[in-house]
Amino acid sequence: MRNVLSHGVLACLGWFTVFIGAGPSPVASATPDPLQPTGQWAEQHFGNAALPPMGWNSWNAFHTQIDEAKLVGSAQAIVDSGLRELGYRYINIDDGWWQQRHQPDGRMVVRTSIFPSARGANPEQTSFRPLVDRLHGLGLKAGIYSDVGRNACSQGYPGPDSLLPTGTVAEREVGLYGHLAQDLSLYFQEWGFDYIKVDGCGLNAFSPDKPAVKAGQFRAFPAYVVSDSVNQTRVADIRKLYGEVRDELTRVRPAGDFVFSICNWGTANVRAWGRDYGNLWRTSDDIEPRWARMLYNFDSVVTRELYSGPGHWNDPDMLYVGQGDFDANHLTEARTHFALWAIVDAPLIIGYDLRQAPKALLDILGAPEIVAVNQDRAGNQGVLAYTSDDLQIIVKQLSARDEKAVVIFNRGTEAVNATLTAAHLKFQPGTPIQVRDLWQRRDLPVFTDEVAIALAPRESVMLRVKGRPQLADGTYLSEMPARLYVAADGIRALQPDPQIHRPVDMGDGTTRGSGPRPALAGWGGPRADSTPYNNELRLRGNVYSSGIGALANSRLQVKADGQFNRFSAQVGMDDSSLERGTKVRFEVYGDGHLLAQSLALGADDAPFSLEARVTGVKIVELVAREIGRGSAPTVVAWGEAALRH
Ligand code: GAL
Repeated sequence: MRNVLSHGVLACLGWFTVFIGAGPSPVASATPDPLQPTGQWAEQHFGNAALPPMGWNSWNAFHTQIDEAKLVGSAQAIVDSGLRELGYRYINIDDGWWQQRHQPDGRMVVRTSIFPSARGANPEQTSFRPLVDRLHGLGLKAGIYSDVGRNACSQGYPGPDSLLPTGTVAEREVGLYGHLAQDLSLYFQEWGFDYIKVDGCGLNAFSPDKPAVKAGQFRAFPAYVVSDSVNQTRVADIRKLYGEVRDELTRVRPAGDFVFSICNWGTANVRAWGRDYGNLWRTSDDIEPRWARMLYNFDSVVTRELYSGPGHWNDPDMLYVGQGDFDANHLTEARTHFALWAIVDAPLIIGYDLRQAPKALLDILGAPEIVAVNQDRAGNQGVLAYTSDDLQIIVKQLSARDEKAVVIFNRGTEAVNATLTAAHLKFQPGTPIQVRDLWQRRDLPVFTDEVAIALAPRESVMLRVKGRPQLADGTYLSEMPARLYVAADGIRALQPDPQIHRPVDMGDGTTRGSGPRPALAGWGGPRADSTPYNNELRLRGNVYSSGIGALANSRLQVKADGQFNRFSAQVGMDDSSLERGTKVRFEVYGDGHLLAQSLALGADDAPFSLEARVTGVKIVELVAREIGRGSAPTVVAWGEAALRH
């Protein structure tokens, strides 16, 4: 049976949907109903990051031991090595650049002992303008670093050799808090920077209980961020502060020629809201040059494919290619780290002293066909097609409909024989698939159906494949994650994501205590080709290898841009749903108008075939509305959800 309700019937049911479907917990009139379709693409456009930003940052290479010669040397190497032509443009200064905040005018002073070109006629009139001009003269762009609170990370977590701001308590308050307009106008207008990374240590390292605060070294700032406890974190306050930075940047750079990088380490549920506030947002704590730590950073983005897209990128932190487990003696690991960052559309920010880079490392950072995958203009983050603790296959839809990039990733310490199938790639069985190895830059034999791939420990293979799409007359939504926007995720109570690898050393660098716990919120967010809780999409035993999994009371926007005629999906309460007693109605809207809806479907109801005509529609909105309120999360599947021609 085809349970299709026609557009005509539903037009007159519109009122019914709005009033009956509002759910059992009426929303206060001032708060917009999160399930109410708007017909407007909710994602805001600001800044200049249509593609994942690429460049270099001083932190992973030098920490606070940065100086002008080191920075300009790496910038020059980017030009000389040809990396600039590949897209590496931003040269970003990180923590350590500041001497102090001059009083009483509050103007920030550069530490001229390490940045001599900033020296002015009088000591407090330092200026980064000469350095920024020099970088611009090299055809590069310049980035600066600050903190959203009053004080910086190096002050909150000083190392033995940290170069710290000097002077009185007020002079050492180098963060943006209380000085937002003044600092951003200095950095972006007077000095001419193009990019800012805004850290968050001012919100967690200076609470009244901290010894340095008690000793009177810093003014107290309440602990807005409790790193291991999202439910004790002041999420709304943190959003507000980062929102003020975004708005001020838009004021000082009305043409939008800036990049805003949010760095609060995946805390405060930023993995869900970063997209509305920054051009990139860190999804995890700092990367370290260790394999296990790289896994942690990677895991913090790989399930967040529906939260990334042009202008807005998940940031698993900067690259560590060149050091530790990713140095010139570990080229397998270095290539894997780089390939993973490329396929999930991570910003490619080099964290290595390029003045001494061996060719083998430059060849990795400069692998043109790998970089091209990261910089593909469709901006689709790679989606997990196969996942286990040991091996993952990540597939990224490229802008050419019949082309995908794929990374087959051996996470473990044993060799693995992987099987890559046409189904992983959403290509038709029995049809030829062309393959190109992106590291070797050569074509491999054409295959049909499947191919075996042998992987050494920690090795990854990165391919570009071309074939006949499974869906001949359209595209699965899970093949266009960049065109989806999560307007409401249906999560009732924030929960840490338990899927993220937890290496040792996440606390004090020892194994004292009981070990790291899951800490980054996001568990339950909608997913491509998976339920929110990492189960396969399944309705009454029918498995859907393509589709969108979500919680009930979610609303997803899809940018159709008038390019399709039909939406279709098999919908229902997923077999894995924890709640089984309620029902869910699935609604499809086009530019704000109800186009089709399902019956109210319970755990035992057959999959419902939902279709809607979307000719000319710009924004399709998918609402899964729970009827009644269960005690446990209700998992729903939009099986085979697709836009068709
Ligand atoms: C951390 C941040 C690092 C680096 C460092 C500087 O909070 O995650 O990327 O900027 O501060 O102290």
